[in-house]
Amino acid sequence: MQIRFADARPEGDYALVIPVQGKDRSGLAALGTAQQTVTATLDRQRFEGEASSVSEQFIDDGGGTSRLLVVGVGKGDAKGEAAEKLGGTAAARLQTSGEKTAVIDLSGLGYDADTTARVGLGAALRSWRYDRYRTKLKDNQKPTLGEVVIVGGDSGGGQRFEQRWAPVVEGEPANVIYPQSFVERVRASIEGSGLDVEVLDRVAMEKLGMGALLGVAQGSMREARLLILKWNGAANGGQPTAFVGKGVTFDTGGISIKPAAGMEAMKWDMGGAGAVVGAMKALALRKAKANIVGICGLVENMPGGNAQRPGDVVTTMSGQTVEVINTDAEGRLVLGDAITYVQRNFKPSTIIDLATLTGAILISLGHEWAGLFSNNEELAGKLQAAGQESGDKLWRMPLAESFDRLIDSPIADMKNVGPREGGSITAAQFIQRFVENGTKWAHIDMAGKAWSDKAASTYEKGATGFGVRLLDQYVADVLER
Ligand code: BES
Ligand code: ZN
Ligand code: MN
Repeated sequence: MQIRFADARPEGDYALVIPVQGKDRSGLAALGTAQQTVTATLDRQRFEGEASSVSEQFIDDGGGTSRLLVVGVGKGDAKGEAAEKLGGTAAARLQTSGEKTAVIDLSGLGYDADTTARVGLGAALRSWRYDRYRTKLKDNQKPTLGEVVIVGGDSGGGQRFEQRWAPVVEGEPANVIYPQSFVERVRASIEGSGLDVEVLDRVAMEKLGMGALLGVAQGSMREARLLILKWNGAANGGQPTAFVGKGVTFDTGGISIKPAAGMEAMKWDMGGAGAVVGAMKALALRKAKANIVGICGLVENMPGGNAQRPGDVVTTMSGQTVEVINTDAEGRLVLGDAITYVQRNFKPSTIIDLATLTGAILISLGHEWAGLFSNNEELAGKLQAAGQESGDKLWRMPLAESFDRLIDSPIADMKNVGPREGGSITAAQFIQRFVENGTKWAHIDMAGKAWSDKAASTYEKGATGFGVRLLDQYVADVLER
């Protein structure tokens, strides 16, 4: 999708998009002679200009008939959010409409440069689709919209879009298949971005003693990988911030196998790793002034002749031992070793991990918020603020010694599951046991957020891209100031 910013409407055919703020229809003045009919139509459709509401009409513009979308931007949302919804709503509505070009006319809204740019961001994000495996799409189901032109906004909108938001769109993750192909896709996608890439294979991880991560991988024919992406954009060589992603490319549960119903959703169990890669790419493309290292623990969790058994004890890279009670609690095993690796090799001042870690977080927070756990008040506050700003919302959950005790094991240093109650919290306590000497740490349990069964204003159903904008916003707010 091509997003352009212009001073005036282009020549030629296009669908015109006019935003209106609630019942304030002053934006329609731009329609000239058609205004009266359009206003009458809106009244008869009982159109009230609520956020994301659309009235689609065809108007006679003198030379011919053209499509008009009047899109509500409401009055309730913050401006940035309203702007993204406007762009997203228009793009979604026109994507397969037959129109090739959409012109969004912002005159009269008084948007500043950033808000203008975020109309483009919404349109670009919402246009992302994954059609690779649709071989039978009828012609009239295929996307036609190739270009969105934004006019009438602030003249700085185009520059703001290129510098701040276009990289974030590029940072959307793909849904990919097994550890090695994940790495290959990432390599192809970040080529030329300036990110440094390093990959550890099974043998390298064995040498480092990453027994927990490798224990999860051992039931699969597809070998594990640890993917390390580095971005050094700060002027000084200060301690980096680390992003760590759970990249379970498929989670069957292993020998503690999951029920058949719904298991296909476990292809999304690499959502944390997808977010880390997406954010790293976005930061590199916009040359963020920060030092960041992104780590993805990539494994496939399968049952098999060599799979780990419930009751196995593994030794982690940290030296701590784990009794694996349930092979389906695999994400924490992967993250534990990945976190030790990043601390030993990069000495980060802050670690933020993202993982589709527990079904229990879905029970707590549903599909709207991801869970946030942290050992540091300031870090938690800043992440929540970045969540609010980016739309990737976070709800703080507790950590406490009393929960930590629940994962003590009678035969090893810890076991990998606690009781059913508080399952997201004991999972977080497990990860915390790998955080060394007071490093600031936050864990984001995004099990309810990696994919969605229904489309929203900035994504189609399927992968949501959750976490990319959150991390990007955190870096902008905290590390680049
Ligand atoms: N990947 C799952 C968690 C998950 C569940 C993500 C539903 C998205 C939707 C994770 O590896 C898992 O299986 N967790 C178990 C932990 C349990 C065995 C302690 C769970 O939540 O049931
Ligand atoms: Zn999992
Ligand atoms: Mn699992």
